[in-house]
Amino acid sequence: ARTTVPGDAVRRATAASPVVRAARRQDVPHTPVWFMRQAGRSLPEYRRVREGVGMLESCRRPDLVTEITLQPVRRHGVDAAIFFSDIVVPLAAIGVDLDIVAGVGPVVARPIRSRADLAQLRDLTPDDVPDITESVGLLTAELGATPLIGFAGAPFTLASYLVEGGPSRNHEHTKALMHGDPALWHDLCAQLAQISGAFLRVQAEAGASVVQLFDSWAGVLSRADYTASVRSHSTAALAAVSDLDVPRIHFGVGTGELLALMGEVGAEVVGVDYRVSLTDALERLGGRYAVQGNLDPALLFAPWEPLERRVRAIVDEGRAAPGHIFNLGHGVLPDTDPDVLTRVVELVHEASAR
Ligand code: CP3
Repeated sequence: ARTTVPGDAVRRATAASPVVRAARRQDVPHTPVWFMRQAGRSLPEYRRVREGVGMLESCRRPDLVTEITLQPVRRHGVDAAIFFSDIVVPLAAIGVDLDIVAGVGPVVARPIRSRADLAQLRDLTPDDVPDITESVGLLTAELGATPLIGFAGAPFTLASYLVEGGPSRNHEHTKALMHGDPALWHDLCAQLAQISGAFLRVQAEAGASVVQLFDSWAGVLSRADYTASVRSHSTAALAAVSDLDVPRIHFGVGTGELLALMGEVGAEVVGVDYRVSLTDALERLGGRYAVQGNLDPALLFAPWEPLERRVRAIVDEGRAAPGHIFNLGHGVLPDTDPDVLTRVVELVHEASAR
């Protein structure tokens, strides 16, 4: 038996929340809703507190992390907070030379393409991120019965940034390494699985009630490549929290063909992007998982009438799921009108009230 951690008490306080109940495939009073990237540039109060503070620096300051994480909960009345951080924070914490460039994304100084480059990486320990433990503790004290969602990047998506050196359209260096030097690829991903899993665990031990593993770019892979080169590493990352009773969400963009595989690596909830309907996703998943999704974030720019129709349709499709957490199919776009997000939260709650 493992030792008791602060997160155990927090998870007792959030066990009755609709997000946690839906993730566990239990009945809920209404469909819970939160938005990927709900904290961020769509909010004027976010832009104000971020003025003059770099993205990576802001992720390491508990005062800012707490404020920014709570902003969308206060404003929109969403059913969960998502921890304000980034998938590359644990990589920076072990000393990888990288930056998050506004409007671009993570940029890595020395891309990992050879075995010698692997020396940039090592295991992540809780001592590398004491600020994360502190931020989660501050947040859960404020959030009470509202769950905090912790997260990490999955090994493949982290590897893509490290191997390409930044965001990539075609992931050609990543795929060249995966197929050209499978031994190096597996060693890289095994190291990233440790880092990803340890980052999830730090958050869950400190009080995250749910965790989400973002394999954002896995949709560029065939089922065969996912199975041979990615699956075992995502399994290892998610296994790092399997003893903590924390539901695990697994999400990627354009992963319609991979949904069942992504559930099988150890998720309770599978995230669905907007390219596949929830009804089709449920069929592909064989009724074994709760689902999260899947409003197209671009539809938030459409007039209210078609948007309302789509939101109601997604809520209705979700009724057939063992559990449904309403979300977007990917993150909130920076120019989104925040009042529309608030209206969508109200609509989801009203349309789904049992
Ligand atoms: O509200 C939330 O969802 C919580 C915070 C969060 C951020 N990044 C903050 C952030 C989360 C969950 C992430 C995860 C993340 N980061 C992913 C997976 C999710 C996804 O979008 O698929 C990925 C691929 C990254 C890498 C990354 N970091 C990208 C692609 C970008 C955007 C670059 C840009 O400016 O367009 C970032 C930067 C980033 N991460 C911002 C935020 C709020 C914008 C930085 C800013 O405000 O200056």
